[in-house]
Amino acid sequence: MTEDLARHLIVAIDGPAGAGKSTVASRIAETFGLVNLETGAMYRAFALKAIESDANFDDPEELQRLAAKTQIRLAPARQGNGVYLDDIEVTRRIREPDVTAAASRVSVHPEIRRWMVAMQRQLGAAGGIVMEGRDIGTAVFPHADVKIFLDAAAETRGQRRFQQNASLIDQAPQAVLEELRERDRRDRTRAESPLAPAADAILIDSTHLSLDEVLARVESIISARLAGKPPA
Ligand code: DC
Repeated sequence: MTEDLARHLIVAIDGPAGAGKSTVASRIAETFGLVNLETGAMYRAFALKAIESDANFDDPEELQRLAAKTQIRLAPARQGNGVYLDDIEVTRRIREPDVTAAASRVSVHPEIRRWMVAMQRQLGAAGGIVMEGRDIGTAVFPHADVKIFLDAAAETRGQRRFQQNASLIDQAPQAVLEELRERDRRDRTRAESPLAPAADAILIDSTHLSLDEVLARVESIISARLAGKPPA
């Protein structure tokens, strides 16, 4: 039973931008031999398609037509995912500010979310995954074996995001924080699957925790689940 669970385990990690989900998810995947799937990268890839197609981010019908002509592929890598849009690699491009802003806008539409959720369920159907996003524990895999909601104060998240992106993107710390607050507002207030912890998610506030401390907590939660014990 436990071996079977280990093979088919579904770990959902949700939370706002900059909470450390990607880093935690990739390390946990390595530790437990799971495939790491970043759902934010899928919304970002679609946002890039919308930018390149000059689509109106606020027109769900136009976006739906575009979605029907879009192929998104995640290639699990050691750190994060390689991301392919219509077979072209866009891993770095989708981290740029214009794509970040567009991803937050196209992801409010229920039609686009339904399409994404269906793809994500298919990707994770066999289990053995850690899937990271905003609605994994609430909408994509409500029956996930482990649900973590990773949060931190906005200032802390802004600072981390700035440091993470400094070598890739030329943006001032204040601009990063403002953009993050705006995304928070949109992610948390959208009508369809707003960002919120699932009722049975375990909340971790990483504002005053180091990465190693967060990892230790998440590892102990997963280990307890695999051993059939309640989380310590
Ligand atoms: O995690 P990220 O910053 O790469 O996400 C980019 C955007 O995609 C974010 O503003 C919200 C959206 N998103 C979402 O709505 N649902 C998810 N499961 C993942 C991301």
